[in-house]
Amino acid sequence: MLTAYDLPLARLLDEAGVDIILVGDSLGMVALGYPTTVPVTMEEMLHHTKAVRRGVSQALLVGDMPFMSFNVSREETVKNAGRFLKEAGCDAVKLEGRLGSRDWVAAVRAILEAGIPVLGHLGLTPQTAGWVGGFKVQAKTAEEAEKLLEAALELEALGCFGIVLECVPAQVAQAVSQKLRIPTIGIGAGAHCDGQVLVTQDLLSLTGSFHPPKFIRTFTRLDQIILKALREFKEAVQDGSFPSAEESYSMPEDEWKRLLSNPRSYS
Ligand code: KIV
Repeated sequence: MLTAYDLPLARLLDEAGVDIILVGDSLGMVALGYPTTVPVTMEEMLHHTKAVRRGVSQALLVGDMPFMSFNVSREETVKNAGRFLKEAGCDAVKLEGRLGSRDWVAAVRAILEAGIPVLGHLGLTPQTAGWVGGFKVQAKTAEEAEKLLEAALELEALGCFGIVLECVPAQVAQAVSQKLRIPTIGIGAGAHCDGQVLVTQDLLSLTGSFHPPKFIRTFTRLDQIILKALREFKEAVQDGSFPSAEESYSMPEDEWKRLLSNPRSYS
């Protein structure tokens, strides 16, 4: 699974054979410049998800429910989840979990009861990072690991089709993956989850972050490649080598002459 927020990248991910494309609320930090994912709105998510939809023909498309879109009332929750399918063409939605919250379990149940497939998300949940003690590895104690497993089993029993495990120790993610029948998708959760997810801009080095967390592998320095091309463009414009004659349109010679012969015109 990888993230996309726009059409060009969605097309590439789909062509590369990525199984699941997630329009993550990481959109807020990666593409919109917010300091956290908390300010991201439903309208922003839908706007970007619609663009991604137009580029995806193979992968399963999952929309990430933003903060407060599933935390207010059952009615709002189901309506918002439904918008991801009806308006943006998603196949499923993802919801970040809140361990021990019955309201959150009720929200997942309500969405599933409406017939909308749900991907759970446990471990580090950035929307409520304050609630889980900040942006740090979760389930590091035996008690926390037990709570995580309980929540994962509950999500499975409710009918979620998979669970994202973010920033949990590899042993815990492996044990949870073995206990569940539904697939786990890890991010910072070791090699033994059933699948892996990254924010695409992280693996391409397009976030401008010089200190990415250790679970991110930079597969290419697209920032350097883009920077080189942009500098070359600027240089070519300045030295007059762009655009060349081949990169320009020309008028038929006789039309040009006719135009010049008109004294009120271009001559
Ligand atoms: O918002 C997001 O991109 C995510 C992934 C990192 C799983 O939730």
